[in-house]
Amino acid sequence: DPKAGCPVHGGENQIRSLLGRQNKDWWPDALPVDMLHQHGVSPDPMGEDFNYAEAFKKLDYAALKADLTALMTDSKPWWPADYGHYGPFMIRMAWHAAGTYRVTDGRGGAGSGQQRFEPLNSWPDNGNLDKARRLLWPIKQKYGQSISWADLFILAGNVAIESMGGPVFGFGGGRKDVYQSEGDTFWGAEEIWVNEGAKTRITEEQADLEGPLAAIQMGLIYVNPEGPGGDPDPLKSARDMKATFSRMAMNSEETVALTAGGHAFGKAHGAKPAANFGKAPASEEIHQQGFGWLTDAEEIGKGHITTSGIEGSWSNNPTKWGGDYFRLLFKYDYELVESPAGAKQWQPINPDPEDMAPDARDPNKRVPTMMTTADMALKMDPEFRAISERFRDDQAALDDAFARAWFKLCHRDMGPKCLYLGPEVPEEDLIWQDPVPQGVVPSDAEVAAFKSAVLSSGLTVAQLVKTAWASASTFRKSDKRGGANGARIALAPQKDWDVNEPEELAKVLAKLEELRGSMSLADAIVLAGSAAVEKAAKDGGFDITVPFTGGRGDATQDWTDVESFHWMEPQADGFRNYLKTRQPVKTEELLIDRASLLGLSGPEMTVLVGGLRVLGANHKDIPEGVLTNRKGVLSNDFFVNLLDIETFWERVDTASDEEFIGYTRGGRTEKWRATRTDLIFGSNSQLRATAEVYAERGHEEKFVRDFVKAWVKVMNADRFDLA
Ligand code: HEM
Repeated sequence: DPKAGCPVHGGENQIRSLLGRQNKDWWPDALPVDMLHQHGVSPDPMGEDFNYAEAFKKLDYAALKADLTALMTDSKPWWPADYGHYGPFMIRMAWHAAGTYRVTDGRGGAGSGQQRFEPLNSWPDNGNLDKARRLLWPIKQKYGQSISWADLFILAGNVAIESMGGPVFGFGGGRKDVYQSEGDTFWGAEEIWVNEGAKTRITEEQADLEGPLAAIQMGLIYVNPEGPGGDPDPLKSARDMKATFSRMAMNSEETVALTAGGHAFGKAHGAKPAANFGKAPASEEIHQQGFGWLTDAEEIGKGHITTSGIEGSWSNNPTKWGGDYFRLLFKYDYELVESPAGAKQWQPINPDPEDMAPDARDPNKRVPTMMTTADMALKMDPEFRAISERFRDDQAALDDAFARAWFKLCHRDMGPKCLYLGPEVPEEDLIWQDPVPQGVVPSDAEVAAFKSAVLSSGLTVAQLVKTAWASASTFRKSDKRGGANGARIALAPQKDWDVNEPEELAKVLAKLEELRGSMSLADAIVLAGSAAVEKAAKDGGFDITVPFTGGRGDATQDWTDVESFHWMEPQADGFRNYLKTRQPVKTEELLIDRASLLGLSGPEMTVLVGGLRVLGANHKDIPEGVLTNRKGVLSNDFFVNLLDIETFWERVDTASDEEFIGYTRGGRTEKWRATRTDLIFGSNSQLRATAEVYAERGHEEKFVRDFVKAWVKVMNADRFDLA
């Protein structure tokens, strides 16, 4: 299974840490502003009460669009617009903002304005986009908090396309800014950037890209434009494009439409060797005020700029939408040449004078067009070529495919459509939005009747808890996908995932179907789990109500993007003590990763693991971590027994560092079994500190109450329909 990542055997062979190389590794001398944001202090100057959706409603959207349109042709001497039009530059900025998204973990993407912060603001592939963002500042300043940076990046891209006659499908606002670099994203483990020779991630020996990454080299958005590792081989470039774009949930048609559509506009910059330019923004001196890749003003004025190192435009009409990209790609044979900056690129052989491009600064001068190796892939790869030829011959088909793929690119990580804001949200439902029909809220009487029916149905606490957990815990806050709403647990592919124990699951779902009456299955699953938690608490002596908010709907198989849900299959779920394939990181790191995607705090994660173990939620009922003699009762036994100093732990055998046995001191009587995911709560000092709180005498009830709170948080994590 290529999606399983790269399995390794033995923890000693762990090949990377969960987060790989982080900002503090790249820029050890950076000002440690984050030390001000410890202990729950937020770096967000807008405070907790700020509601971006409300602020957006006050936006004069038409005025903003008019200002953006005017900006496109308002060339500034400090960074003159090529061809007098900033449109192409803004499109590249928006594309690179959105293009970091990866479907594997839903992280990256345009959703929170991350291009403003390290590492992305200083990625080699984001060269000179600091200027594009700075050009937008007067507009951002004028409209203030009624438009976030994150929304502004994408809207600027849309307006750019429109202002050059290109097709757009719509715009949804709602991307709330954050005020710090998101430190939860693995961008790669390499210690050097692509321009310093970082290795390429797909080779003959390793045919697939390491999960969850979506770029072929450290510091790139996708592929190297010059070809894999600089090798100008269009067929290998096509291979890399397919690997990387599919990580972004784009198929070949979308990939061709996006790349060709994007390159209808603008130009590449490679006027001089890169050594002539300054450092990336994060490494620049204080008086440069966050600008990077500097050269002197006179050079900039002449257009002597290097960004990628490739030089020239793709089309003879670089500020006008149309079919010239494909026309030129197929009309000419191309030869390999070198740009003035030394990059490998392709140039048409003997172009007709009218197929030459204008010079970026001097409209009376004509210069040759070019293609990158990645563009040549659209012609040389047989699958891409068939699509490209169709688009060449059918402009309307390209218009439609580009507009839709661009919309998807920019909105992929925004969650359900009810979160989109503004007057340009398209009516049409799209399958990648994972649509769920609006549900009906069951009455109190229905809720009560269903709960008692479920508890006397013969289904166990463990079965009900597991099913509700399986349904809700697919949620990931990164791209707001998954969750219990829609009951996609009952549909392919989720119903067949190994982690969900398909046969057991089918039995439970059949019973819930039978009992649910007019309640949605999605509500029934959550309510049944919550009833089981109540029963388990009561059996432990605590009468507690698990709050339930009904109104979930049931999705259909037709409206479920099976391929894109495949990526969401957990390879591990520490909450169910499940490990499908050993990953290149430690198993306990996978628990942290999942908890982070669920939006849980350390205490919430801790209390949930401890509770789920004693409720019997383990995958296939394995005994590991069930540190209780009264399984099915909601108690703090997991923590009490884990921290019992009369127990000592050993590996099951030297070959395994995933399984452990707990013995009573002074003998070899086996008392417990555990995994790394269990023992980490005694081993890691921070988690141990929290585990101690839950093991303390007098905290039995606190444990139950905190468990219920965290449980409800997970069950409702995807209820965007409520707000
Ligand atoms: C510019 C590569 C996909 C839109 C560029 C440049 C390169 C490049 C090397 C020149 C940057 C510079 O030196 O200034 C690629 C590769 C792609 C890809 C390898 C994928 C295989 C896309 C997509 C879009 C896009 C999907 C948008 C839908 C643009 C635009 C420019 C550009 C508009 C011109 C920017 C300007 O004029 O300043 N691209 N690109 N590209 N790209 Fe792409």
